Amino acid sequence: GPGAVPVRLNVNGRQLDLMLEPRVTLLDALRMRADLTGNKRGCDRGACGACTMLVDGRPVYSCSTLAIAVQGKQIRNVDGLANGDTLHPVQAAFCEKDALMCGFCTPGFIMASVGLLEKHPNATAEQIRKGLDGNICRCGTFPRIFEAVSSVTGGQRA
Ligand code: FES
Repeated sequence: GPGAVPVRLNVNGRQLDLMLEPRVTLLDALRMRADLTGNKRGCDRGACGACTMLVDGRPVYSCSTLAIAVQGKQIRNVDGLANGDTLHPVQAAFCEKDALMCGFCTPGFIMASVGLLEKHPNATAEQIRKGLDGNICRCGTFPRIFEAVSSVTGGQRA
């Protein structure tokens, strides 16, 4: 569109060259322009966590992050987590512990959990609670999400 500028992103280890208006968010850039739709749009205003991605290992609300602002950084969304048919250990744990109902919040929770566990592989209960406090599950599955993340602590990292 008018005012579009070249934006180069590194997403899931791959370079992505897009023409975007400067106001386009990271969430929209990936969902609408790169077919990376794993992370969902919930509130679209930085309050629910469904859109959580990792930028240089740190969880961010991609709905509230401009794509142009994260050029040169390592961006990861949930689409890049599994290795072919092999789920990331955190994804596997969510399945094993039945840690989802409607599943809308799940990609955001998984990304926040991955970021947390990469930083604190042996995260305590307190660190897990704090690491996930930016994410909301309206179906009430948090206890199972907590259990899933706890089950991965001290385990292997992909
Ligand atoms: Fe980004 Fe809710 S959609 S925080």
